[in-house]
Amino acid sequence: MKVFVTGASGWIGSAVVPELLAAGHEVTGLARSADSAERLRAAGVTPREGSLDDPGALSAAAHDAEAVIHLANKHDWSNMAESNRAERAAVETFAAALEGTGKPFVFASGAAFQPGTMVVETDVNPASGPESPRGGAERFAFDRVEHGLHAIALRFAPTVHGAGGEHGFIPQIVAAARRNGVAGYVGDGSSRWSAVHRRDAGALVTKALASAPAGTAVHAVAEEGIATREIAEAIGVALGIPTQSVAADDALEHFGWIGMFWRLDIPASSAVTRERFDWTPTNPTLLEDIAAGAYTDGSPTD
Ligand SMILES: NC(=O)c1ccc[n+]([C@@H]2O[C@H](COP(=O)([O-])OP(=O)(O)OC[C@H]3O[C@@H](n4cnc5c(N)ncnc54)[C@H](OP(=O)(O)O)[C@@H]3O)[C@@H](O)[C@H]2O)c1
Repeated sequence: MKVFVTGASGWIGSAVVPELLAAGHEVTGLARSADSAERLRAAGVTPREGSLDDPGALSAAAHDAEAVIHLANKHDWSNMAESNRAERAAVETFAAALEGTGKPFVFASGAAFQPGTMVVETDVNPASGPESPRGGAERFAFDRVEHGLHAIALRFAPTVHGAGGEHGFIPQIVAAARRNGVAGYVGDGSSRWSAVHRRDAGALVTKALASAPAGTAVHAVAEEGIATREIAEAIGVALGIPTQSVAADDALEHFGWIGMFWRLDIPASSAVTRERFDWTPTNPTLLEDIAAGAYTDGSPTD
């Protein structure tokens, strides 16, 4: 299949591309700079010039492809409203281009939308409207299924991990630990985070592209819920510093913006996804990656 990928040069995208190529797909990728285009070429992807701010380019690329995988995100943590609006606009553009064509539209989402409960595939993402988290894009796209959009949501664990990454949330927790001289967790550290290795995520995305029916929520989750205290302890050992509880009221000051998320209990199940796509994660767990130095000394476990 001719697959157009946004975010192909990113942390997850660069793990998805080899899987797509191995499955025999022809991959083109959105490139917003000469540097991104070069990295895409080196990975076997044909670059296509454009950006998330260029709906014409997104639309034309969708028309020329047989499937779209949308992973790009502005990730402007200091201006989440802008990231959310851009995400919504991009998904609306792709929906308009793909509705009624039968072409799969596979897009990034998250599994952490219902703190305090084990999120399952059938749970409805409550985010709605352009100002909501991720611009309410999942809800919007699923609402378009009845209008002929073959929408498939990739609900990634909040921790898509692997060696050599500066991306994702764990590097932020590690940075806070280095800053403070202690590896912190919030309260009693019983809040759980789900996790997936980026290579396992890449394999799952390719399986979902091949067979997921319209309206499917795919849970890219290998570990359903690791206590944040255990994650902090692993970081503490890797950095050779103590582990310490931080009061919930001090979380933002101690951890910075990531404190908003680090305090949350956000487990998610992938039982349905594993069964549906015959997907079994095989790569290192988050704690194994941390212990191997993936976030502290760049040891190449990836
Ligand atoms: N990583 C995680 O733990 C995690 C967890 C849950 C959900 N997700 C979601 O999964 C998706 C992929 O995440 P990721 O970690 O792979 O992200 P990432 O490493 O930050 O990569 C972002 C990608 O988006 C591209 N991009 C950014 N702004 C752009 C713009 N204005 N126009 C065109 N392309 C642009 C980047 O291109 P350049 O190469 O040019 O910078 C890069 O390819 C995102 O939607 C993310 O929110 C990730």
